[in-house]
Amino acid sequence: MTDLNTLAANAPKAELHLHIEGSFEPELMFEIARRNDVNLPFKSVEDIRAAYDFSNLQEFLDIYYQGMSVLLLEQDFYDLTWAYLTRAAADHVIHTEIFFDPQGHTERGVAFADVVGGISRALGDAKDKLGISSKLIMCFLRHLSEEEALATWDEAQPHLSLIDGVGLDSSEVGHPPSKFKKVFAKARAAGLHLVAHAGEEGPPSYIWEALDDLCIERVDHGNRALEDQALVKRLADEGLCLTVCPLSNLKLCVIDDMKNHPIKVMLDAGLKPNINSDDPSYFGGYVNDNFLALINALPLSRTDIEVLLRNGFEGSFMDESDKAEALHRLQNYIKNTG
Ligand code: ADE
Ligand code: ZN
Repeated sequence: MTDLNTLAANAPKAELHLHIEGSFEPELMFEIARRNDVNLPFKSVEDIRAAYDFSNLQEFLDIYYQGMSVLLLEQDFYDLTWAYLTRAAADHVIHTEIFFDPQGHTERGVAFADVVGGISRALGDAKDKLGISSKLIMCFLRHLSEEEALATWDEAQPHLSLIDGVGLDSSEVGHPPSKFKKVFAKARAAGLHLVAHAGEEGPPSYIWEALDDLCIERVDHGNRALEDQALVKRLADEGLCLTVCPLSNLKLCVIDDMKNHPIKVMLDAGLKPNINSDDPSYFGGYVNDNFLALINALPLSRTDIEVLLRNGFEGSFMDESDKAEALHRLQNYIKNTG
Protein backbone atom coordinates (compact mmCIF):
# COMPACT_ATOMS: atom_id res chain seq x y z
CA MET A 1 0.00 0.00 0.00
CA THR A 2 1.47 3.34 -1.08
CA ASP A 3 1.85 5.71 1.85
CA LEU A 4 -0.17 8.92 1.66
CA ASN A 5 2.82 11.16 1.20
CA THR A 6 4.08 9.18 -1.80
CA LEU A 7 0.54 9.11 -3.19
CA ALA A 8 0.26 12.91 -2.92
CA ALA A 9 3.84 13.69 -3.98
CA ASN A 10 3.75 11.75 -7.25
CA ALA A 11 0.19 12.66 -8.25
CA PRO A 12 -0.42 14.95 -11.21
CA LYS A 13 -1.70 18.11 -9.58
CA ALA A 14 -2.93 21.66 -10.06
CA GLU A 15 -1.73 24.66 -8.09
CA LEU A 16 -4.25 27.52 -7.90
CA HIS A 17 -2.72 29.93 -5.39
CA LEU A 18 0.84 30.97 -6.16
CA HIS A 19 2.21 34.51 -6.10
CA ILE A 20 5.03 34.48 -8.61
CA GLU A 21 6.89 37.15 -6.62
CA GLY A 22 6.57 34.86 -3.57
CA SER A 23 8.53 32.15 -5.36
CA PHE A 24 11.62 34.40 -5.53
CA GLU A 25 14.38 32.29 -3.96
CA PRO A 26 17.17 34.28 -2.23
CA GLU A 27 19.87 32.83 -4.54
CA LEU A 28 18.10 34.17 -7.64
CA MET A 29 17.31 37.43 -5.80
CA PHE A 30 21.03 38.01 -5.23
CA GLU A 31 21.89 37.08 -8.82
CA ILE A 32 19.34 39.51 -10.28
CA ALA A 33 20.27 42.24 -7.79
CA ARG A 34 23.91 41.89 -8.87
CA ARG A 35 23.23 42.04 -12.60
CA ASN A 36 20.84 45.02 -12.15
CA ASP A 37 23.27 46.76 -9.81
CA VAL A 38 20.63 47.07 -7.08
CA ASN A 39 21.53 46.90 -3.39
CA LEU A 40 19.74 44.43 -1.15
CA PRO A 41 19.69 45.22 2.58
CA PHE A 42 21.05 41.71 3.28
CA LYS A 43 24.61 40.41 3.10
CA SER A 44 23.91 36.78 2.28
CA VAL A 45 21.31 34.17 1.39
CA GLU A 46 21.44 33.03 5.03
CA ASP A 47 20.73 36.60 6.21
CA ILE A 48 17.67 36.74 3.97
CA ARG A 49 16.35 33.38 5.16
CA ALA A 50 16.91 34.40 8.79
CA ALA A 51 14.64 37.43 8.20
CA TYR A 52 11.76 35.15 7.19
CA ASP A 53 10.26 35.01 10.65
CA PHE A 54 6.80 36.55 10.64
CA SER A 55 4.09 37.01 13.23
CA ASN A 56 1.41 38.23 10.82
CA LEU A 57 0.64 38.97 7.17
CA GLN A 58 1.94 42.56 7.26
CA GLU A 59 5.39 41.56 8.54
CA PHE A 60 5.67 39.18 5.60
CA LEU A 61 4.39 41.71 3.05
CA ASP A 62 6.98 44.31 4.10
CA ILE A 63 9.80 41.93 3.22
CA TYR A 64 8.00 40.54 0.15
CA TYR A 65 7.78 44.00 -1.46
CA GLN A 66 11.43 44.63 -0.62
CA GLY A 67 12.45 41.34 -2.29
CA MET A 68 10.58 42.02 -5.52
CA SER A 69 12.17 45.47 -5.85
CA VAL A 70 15.23 44.00 -7.63
CA LEU A 71 13.06 42.88 -10.58
CA LEU A 72 13.45 45.44 -13.36
CA LEU A 73 13.66 43.83 -16.79
CA GLU A 74 11.56 41.46 -18.89
CA GLN A 75 14.28 38.83 -18.51
CA ASP A 76 14.07 39.12 -14.69
CA PHE A 77 10.38 38.25 -14.79
CA TYR A 78 11.09 35.41 -17.19
CA ASP A 79 13.82 33.97 -14.93
CA LEU A 80 11.65 34.28 -11.83
CA THR A 81 8.75 32.49 -13.48
CA TRP A 82 10.88 29.82 -15.12
CA ALA A 83 12.52 29.00 -11.78
CA TYR A 84 9.10 28.43 -10.21
CA LEU A 85 7.89 26.34 -13.15
CA THR A 86 10.86 23.97 -13.12
CA ARG A 87 10.44 23.54 -9.36
CA ALA A 88 6.70 22.93 -9.78
CA ALA A 89 7.38 20.31 -12.46
CA ALA A 90 9.47 18.39 -9.91
CA ASP A 91 6.34 18.28 -7.71
CA HIS A 92 4.27 16.90 -10.62
CA VAL A 93 2.30 20.12 -11.08
CA ILE A 94 0.69 19.85 -14.52
CA HIS A 95 -1.46 22.98 -14.29
CA THR A 96 -0.79 26.20 -12.42
CA GLU A 97 -2.71 29.46 -11.97
CA ILE A 98 -0.26 32.20 -11.14
CA PHE A 99 -0.86 35.55 -9.43
CA PHE A 100 1.23 38.58 -10.18
CA ASP A 101 1.22 42.02 -8.54
CA PRO A 102 1.75 44.58 -11.33
CA GLN A 103 1.41 47.53 -8.94
CA GLY A 104 4.40 46.25 -6.98
CA HIS A 105 6.45 46.86 -10.14
CA THR A 106 4.83 49.70 -12.08
CA GLU A 107 4.97 51.99 -9.03
CA ARG A 108 8.78 51.54 -9.21
CA GLY A 109 8.82 52.55 -12.87
CA VAL A 110 8.92 49.06 -14.42
CA ALA A 111 6.92 48.79 -17.66
CA PHE A 112 3.71 46.76 -17.39
CA ALA A 113 4.60 45.14 -20.73
CA ASP A 114 7.90 43.83 -19.33
CA VAL A 115 6.22 42.32 -16.26
CA VAL A 116 3.46 40.54 -18.14
CA GLY A 117 5.73 39.80 -21.11
CA GLY A 118 8.43 38.01 -19.10
CA ILE A 119 5.94 35.99 -17.07
CA SER A 120 3.93 34.98 -20.15
CA ARG A 121 7.01 34.01 -22.15
CA ALA A 122 8.03 31.58 -19.37
CA LEU A 123 4.47 30.21 -19.17
CA GLY A 124 4.56 29.56 -22.93
CA ASP A 125 7.89 27.75 -22.62
CA ALA A 126 6.52 25.69 -19.72
CA LYS A 127 3.70 24.43 -21.91
CA ASP A 128 6.16 23.41 -24.65
CA LYS A 129 9.07 22.10 -22.57
CA LEU A 130 7.56 20.96 -19.25
CA GLY A 131 4.00 20.06 -20.25
CA ILE A 132 2.60 22.51 -17.67
CA SER A 133 -0.52 24.46 -18.64
CA SER A 134 -1.32 27.72 -16.90
CA LYS A 135 -3.57 30.71 -16.32
CA LEU A 136 -2.39 34.16 -15.31
CA ILE A 137 -4.23 36.20 -12.68
CA MET A 138 -3.50 39.90 -12.16
CA CYS A 139 -3.96 40.97 -8.54
CA PHE A 140 -4.82 44.42 -7.27
CA LEU A 141 -3.06 45.50 -4.09
CA ARG A 142 -5.84 46.14 -1.61
CA HIS A 143 -3.81 48.54 0.56
CA LEU A 144 -3.86 50.94 -2.41
CA SER A 145 -6.96 52.85 -3.55
CA GLU A 146 -9.57 51.70 -6.02
CA GLU A 147 -8.55 54.62 -8.26
CA GLU A 148 -5.07 53.10 -8.45
CA ALA A 149 -6.56 49.68 -9.22
CA LEU A 150 -8.65 51.28 -12.00
CA ALA A 151 -5.53 52.91 -13.44
CA THR A 152 -3.81 49.50 -13.43
CA TRP A 153 -6.86 48.00 -15.13
CA ASP A 154 -6.50 50.65 -17.88
CA GLU A 155 -2.80 49.91 -18.19
CA ALA A 156 -3.57 46.21 -18.59
CA GLN A 157 -5.92 46.72 -21.57
CA PRO A 158 -3.34 46.16 -24.36
CA HIS A 159 -2.28 42.92 -22.64
CA LEU A 160 -5.66 41.39 -21.77
CA SER A 161 -5.13 38.48 -24.16
CA LEU A 162 -2.37 37.29 -21.77
CA ILE A 163 -4.46 37.70 -18.60
CA ASP A 164 -7.13 35.19 -17.58
CA GLY A 165 -8.40 36.66 -14.35
CA VAL A 166 -8.13 39.28 -11.64
CA GLY A 167 -7.58 38.84 -7.91
CA LEU A 168 -7.15 40.86 -4.73
CA ASP A 169 -4.22 40.51 -2.34
CA SER A 170 -1.95 42.33 0.16
CA SER A 171 -3.00 43.69 3.60
CA GLU A 172 -6.49 42.36 4.24
CA VAL A 173 -7.76 43.88 7.49
CA GLY A 174 -9.12 47.39 6.92
CA HIS A 175 -9.38 46.86 3.15
CA PRO A 176 -12.68 45.04 2.53
CA PRO A 177 -13.52 43.62 -0.90
CA SER A 178 -16.34 46.17 -1.37
CA LYS A 179 -13.61 48.80 -1.86
CA PHE A 180 -12.90 47.21 -5.28
CA LYS A 181 -16.44 46.76 -6.57
CA LYS A 182 -16.03 48.99 -9.66
CA VAL A 183 -12.79 47.49 -10.92
CA PHE A 184 -14.07 43.92 -10.45
CA ALA A 185 -17.26 44.87 -12.36
CA LYS A 186 -15.06 46.01 -15.26
CA ALA A 187 -13.05 42.79 -15.22
CA ARG A 188 -16.29 40.81 -15.11
CA ALA A 189 -17.70 42.71 -18.07
CA ALA A 190 -14.48 41.89 -19.96
CA GLY A 191 -15.08 38.16 -19.34
CA LEU A 192 -12.18 37.62 -16.94
CA HIS A 193 -12.23 35.16 -14.07
CA LEU A 194 -12.57 36.65 -10.58
CA VAL A 195 -10.94 35.57 -7.32
CA ALA A 196 -10.00 37.33 -4.07
CA HIS A 197 -8.02 36.67 -0.92
CA ALA A 198 -10.61 36.67 1.85
CA GLY A 199 -10.82 35.28 5.36
CA GLU A 200 -7.05 34.82 5.73
CA GLU A 201 -6.88 37.40 8.54
CA GLY A 202 -10.09 39.27 7.72
CA PRO A 203 -13.53 38.38 9.12
CA PRO A 204 -16.21 36.21 7.46
CA SER A 205 -18.01 39.40 6.37
CA TYR A 206 -15.14 39.98 3.90
CA ILE A 207 -15.89 36.60 2.30
CA TRP A 208 -19.58 37.52 2.01
CA GLU A 209 -18.56 40.81 0.35
CA ALA A 210 -16.20 39.04 -2.04
CA LEU A 211 -19.08 36.76 -3.07
CA ASP A 212 -21.83 39.38 -3.25
CA ASP A 213 -19.98 42.54 -4.32
CA LEU A 214 -17.15 41.12 -6.42
CA CYS A 215 -18.86 37.91 -7.70
CA ILE A 216 -15.73 35.81 -7.12
CA GLU A 217 -15.52 32.25 -8.43
CA ARG A 218 -12.96 31.02 -5.86
CA VAL A 219 -11.93 32.10 -2.38
CA ASP A 220 -8.20 32.43 -1.74
CA HIS A 221 -7.58 31.06 1.78
CA GLY A 222 -11.10 31.35 3.28
CA ASN A 223 -10.03 29.90 6.64
CA ARG A 224 -12.27 32.20 8.65
CA ALA A 225 -15.38 31.04 6.76
CA LEU A 226 -15.55 28.33 9.39
CA GLU A 227 -16.66 30.94 11.96
CA ASP A 228 -19.97 31.46 10.13
CA GLN A 229 -22.18 28.44 9.50
CA ALA A 230 -24.45 30.26 7.02
CA LEU A 231 -21.35 31.14 5.00
CA VAL A 232 -20.10 27.55 5.12
CA LYS A 233 -23.48 26.44 3.78
CA ARG A 234 -23.37 29.02 0.97
CA LEU A 235 -19.83 28.03 -0.08
CA ALA A 236 -20.69 24.33 0.08
CA ASP A 237 -23.98 24.76 -1.81
CA GLU A 238 -22.26 26.76 -4.56
CA GLY A 239 -19.28 24.37 -4.67
CA LEU A 240 -16.75 27.21 -4.55
CA CYS A 241 -13.15 26.10 -4.27
CA LEU A 242 -11.07 27.42 -1.35
CA THR A 243 -7.39 27.70 -2.30
CA VAL A 244 -5.84 26.70 1.02
CA CYS A 245 -2.15 27.24 1.86
CA PRO A 246 -1.09 25.26 4.96
CA LEU A 247 2.58 26.33 5.36
CA SER A 248 1.57 29.95 4.71
CA ASN A 249 -1.06 29.66 7.43
CA LEU A 250 1.57 28.41 9.86
CA LYS A 251 4.27 30.96 8.92
CA LEU A 252 1.82 33.89 9.13
CA CYS A 253 0.34 32.65 12.43
CA VAL A 254 -3.14 32.12 10.97
CA ILE A 255 -2.82 28.79 12.84
CA ASP A 256 -0.60 28.11 15.88
CA ASP A 257 0.27 24.51 14.97
CA MET A 258 -0.18 22.35 11.86
CA LYS A 259 -2.09 19.93 14.10
CA ASN A 260 -4.77 22.63 14.32
CA HIS A 261 -5.00 23.25 10.59
CA PRO A 262 -8.71 23.31 9.60
CA ILE A 263 -8.35 21.33 6.36
CA LYS A 264 -10.13 18.27 7.75
CA VAL A 265 -12.90 20.44 9.22
CA MET A 266 -13.32 22.08 5.81
CA LEU A 267 -13.57 18.73 4.05
CA ASP A 268 -15.99 17.34 6.62
CA ALA A 269 -18.14 20.49 6.33
CA GLY A 270 -18.60 19.86 2.60
CA LEU A 271 -16.30 22.69 1.51
CA LYS A 272 -14.02 22.28 -1.48
CA PRO A 273 -10.42 23.09 -0.51
CA ASN A 274 -7.32 22.36 -2.56
CA ILE A 275 -3.66 22.62 -1.48
CA ASN A 276 -1.22 25.34 -2.59
CA SER A 277 2.08 26.94 -1.66
CA ASP A 278 1.15 30.69 -1.77
CA ASP A 279 4.69 32.15 -1.43
CA PRO A 280 6.91 29.06 -1.34
CA SER A 281 10.24 30.82 -1.05
CA TYR A 282 9.09 32.68 2.06
CA PHE A 283 7.04 29.95 3.74
CA GLY A 284 9.40 26.99 3.54
CA GLY A 285 7.98 24.79 0.86
CA TYR A 286 6.41 24.08 -2.51
CA VAL A 287 3.13 22.29 -3.04
CA ASN A 288 4.35 18.78 -2.11
CA ASP A 289 5.84 20.15 1.12
CA ASN A 290 2.38 21.48 1.93
CA PHE A 291 0.78 18.06 1.42
CA LEU A 292 3.53 16.48 3.53
CA ALA A 293 3.05 18.96 6.39
CA LEU A 294 -0.67 18.19 6.52
CA ILE A 295 -0.22 14.42 6.24
CA ASN A 296 2.34 14.43 9.07
CA ALA A 297 0.15 16.52 11.37
CA LEU A 298 -3.40 15.32 10.77
CA PRO A 299 -5.34 12.05 10.48
CA LEU A 300 -6.13 12.50 6.80
CA SER A 301 -7.48 9.50 4.90
CA ARG A 302 -6.56 8.32 1.42
CA THR A 303 -9.97 9.61 0.29
CA ASP A 304 -9.18 13.05 1.76
CA ILE A 305 -5.96 13.24 -0.27
CA GLU A 306 -7.74 12.13 -3.42
CA VAL A 307 -10.46 14.75 -2.91
CA LEU A 308 -7.88 17.51 -2.31
CA LEU A 309 -6.09 16.54 -5.53
CA ARG A 310 -9.34 16.40 -7.52
CA ASN A 311 -10.46 19.78 -6.13
CA GLY A 312 -7.34 21.34 -7.63
CA PHE A 313 -8.50 20.49 -11.13
CA GLU A 314 -12.22 20.95 -10.50
CA GLY A 315 -11.61 24.42 -9.03
CA SER A 316 -9.32 25.46 -11.87
CA PHE A 317 -10.14 27.73 -14.79
CA MET A 318 -9.07 25.12 -17.35
CA ASP A 319 -11.51 24.78 -20.19
CA GLU A 320 -13.88 21.84 -19.81
CA SER A 321 -12.08 19.41 -22.15
CA ASP A 322 -8.64 20.09 -20.57
CA LYS A 323 -10.19 19.72 -17.13
CA ALA A 324 -11.81 16.39 -18.03
CA GLU A 325 -8.49 15.14 -19.44
CA ALA A 326 -6.54 16.18 -16.32
CA LEU A 327 -9.13 14.57 -14.01
CA HIS A 328 -8.93 11.40 -16.09
CA ARG A 329 -5.13 11.42 -15.76
CA LEU A 330 -5.44 11.83 -11.99
CA GLN A 331 -8.05 9.07 -11.77
CA ASN A 332 -5.78 6.66 -13.68
CA TYR A 333 -2.89 7.54 -11.38
CA ILE A 334 -5.06 6.86 -8.31
CA LYS A 335 -6.32 3.55 -9.74
CA ASN A 336 -2.78 2.39 -10.50
CA THR A 337 -1.34 3.49 -7.15
CA GLY A 338 -2.56 0.87 -4.71
N1 ADE B 1 0.53 38.56 -1.28
C1 ADE B 1 1.38 37.54 -1.35
N2 ADE B 1 1.02 36.58 -0.48
C2 ADE B 1 -0.11 37.00 0.14
C3 ADE B 1 -0.97 36.46 1.11
N3 ADE B 1 -0.77 35.26 1.67
N4 ADE B 1 -2.02 37.18 1.53
C4 ADE B 1 -2.24 38.39 0.99
N5 ADE B 1 -1.47 38.95 0.08
C5 ADE B 1 -0.41 38.25 -0.36
ZN1 ZN C 1 -1.88 34.42 -1.40
